[in-house]
Amino acid sequence: MEQKYVLECTYGIVICLSIALLVSSDASMNETKTCCTDRFGLNYTLPMFFECQKKGHLNGSMVQTIPKLIPNSLGGGGCPRRESKLGVPPGRRVCRFPDCDINPCENGWCEETMTGYRCHCPIGFQGKQCHELDTNPPATTQGIFVTCLKDITVTVELGTPNKSIEFTPPSAVNREGTVVLVSQNYISGDDFPVGSTLVEYIFADESGNQASLCTFNVNVNTVDTTPPVVQSCPSNQTFSVLKTTTPITWTPPTASDASGIAFIVANYEPGVNVSVNSPISVIYTVTDNSGLVNTNCSFNITLVSVETEWECTSSKCYRFDTRWLMWHHAHNICPTLGPITTAAGDRTPSLLFADTEEASRLALILKHGNDLRDSWINCNEMETKGLFMCDVDGNGAVQINSTSWSSGHPTGYGNEKCVALSYHYKWRDLPCHYARSSVCQIVL
Ligand SMILES: *[C@@H]1O[C@H](CO)[C@@H](O)[C@H](O)[C@H]1NC(C)=O
Ligand SMILES: *[C@@H]1O[C@H](CO)[C@@H](O)[C@H](O)[C@H]1NC(C)=O
Ligand SMILES: *[C@@H]1O[C@H](CO)[C@@H](O)[C@H](O)[C@H]1NC(C)=O
Ligand SMILES: *[C@@H]1O[C@H](CO)[C@@H](O)[C@H](O)[C@H]1NC(C)=O
Ligand SMILES: *[C@@H]1O[C@H](CO)[C@@H](O)[C@H](O)[C@H]1NC(C)=O
Ligand SMILES: *[C@@H]1O[C@H](CO)[C@@H](O)[C@H](O)[C@H]1NC(C)=O
Ligand SMILES: *[C@@H]1O[C@H](CO)[C@@H](O)[C@H](O)[C@H]1NC(C)=O
Ligand SMILES: *[C@@H]1O[C@H](CO)[C@@H](O)[C@H](O)[C@H]1NC(C)=O
Repeated sequence: MEQKYVLECTYGIVICLSIALLVSSDASMNETKTCCTDRFGLNYTLPMFFECQKKGHLNGSMVQTIPKLIPNSLGGGGCPRRESKLGVPPGRRVCRFPDCDINPCENGWCEETMTGYRCHCPIGFQGKQCHELDTNPPATTQGIFVTCLKDITVTVELGTPNKSIEFTPPSAVNREGTVVLVSQNYISGDDFPVGSTLVEYIFADESGNQASLCTFNVNVNTVDTTPPVVQSCPSNQTFSVLKTTTPITWTPPTASDASGIAFIVANYEPGVNVSVNSPISVIYTVTDNSGLVNTNCSFNITLVSVETEWECTSSKCYRFDTRWLMWHHAHNICPTLGPITTAAGDRTPSLLFADTEEASRLALILKHGNDLRDSWINCNEMETKGLFMCDVDGNGAVQINSTSWSSGHPTGYGNEKCVALSYHYKWRDLPCHYARSSVCQIVL
């Protein structure tokens, strides 16, 4: 850059000399002081052999001025018209701030010239200040002829991250046949991500003239044609219930889709009251964010009443089994009667646990109340000798220090490890292989 200014300055002095001659022969013309002001308000009629100095800029800095030629075009503005004997344009030498200081070239780079400045516009811009879009950029630079491509647009299914796209690679030639491909950011067959990707091929000739002329967009657009996928659709189910109308719950299905799930709605919500003899058919409508719908998740809910098999109080239901069974057998049969769906949820029946007070009340409501006095309860000492553990509600055994034992019980005899009700509904320990009646219970 520095060197460039030096050159131009030298040239400027040659011009200055020639102009000086012209000016001096015309020194009496006073109007030159007022007729030709440039836009910086400087005198055109500067002393001709001065070097250009620094001057105070409007912004307060001292800024180096450079020599310029102010052309005196054919009498324009009243300035005297001069002929150049040295083949330079008519005009006067001035020192002034570089024209490029005000960045006149909007999109290009600015070159100081003898009389002003010149903007060099990049590809795609034109006009004196490179401010106009060049909608039809030249296809050549420095004699390189480029064969480029139009934009490529493809469509892929939503959710596909990218697409391999083949294209005829851009090419370039010059007359000498010395063009080489300098760089390419994508090649044919590459994976192009969803969206718009600018492909750029840069060619150059042997003298290094670069032509990054071939650019085109690869647009990968998405379309959603896949309806949502529903997971964990509940199956058709039959519920055993104690009441003819019972609220039934289920876990709603989940769904997924590349566009996201907009909503999942059903004609019945979990917790709906269902009646025996009136099964319901639940249908889920799943809609994705593209408006595609899947209604494939549907299931029937049917209720079967077991009400007549059970006697209920407000806290428990009971079912008497008149068969005489060993303790383990009786214990294992109860869960097979369930699950039973209650208003409070699903329950698995378990072998009765009742103290003397509960057993006495129970005897009054059971048809076979008397037989209750020979019925197993859910306690044993199989784990640790001397330590009776009771499963109160079917959820696990705990140690119970009960006042319900008959006097003299538990006996502590080695083989009497299971507990049954006895006279006056008191507890006694018996060998587990004895046969007794049993009651299954549901804790509500
Ligand atoms: C222009 O030149 C005249 C005469 O040489 C001088 O008096 C005047 O101050 C100059 N004006 C400027 C702005 O330099
Ligand atoms: C003043 O303007 C000149 C030319 O545009 C510039 O080089 C210089 O940095 C400016 N100084 C300040 C303080 O802005
Ligand atoms: C394009 O997508 C596939 C999966 O569909 C992936 O394996 C591959 O890495 C992706 N390519 C790029 C360049 O990200
Ligand atoms: C429920 O049964 C019906 C047939 O009556 C069937 O079309 C449907 O797919 C079943 N639903 C489930 C979730 O198994
Ligand atoms: C189900 O029925 C019970 C008793 O009639 C009522 O209290 C409850 O609100 C009902 N539930 C629904 C979801 O309708
Ligand atoms: C629904 O099920 C039918 C039959 O199984 C199947 O052809 C269809 O693709 C499914 N629809 C959706 C949206 O999954
Ligand atoms: C489910 O309900 C529908 C409509 O009520 C019925 O047509 C269908 O047979 C039922 N399927 C089953 C398995 O109960
Ligand atoms: C039962 O009695 C034993 C011995 O007296 C005592 O250690 C234990 O904590 C009692 N358990 C309960 C549940 O009261």
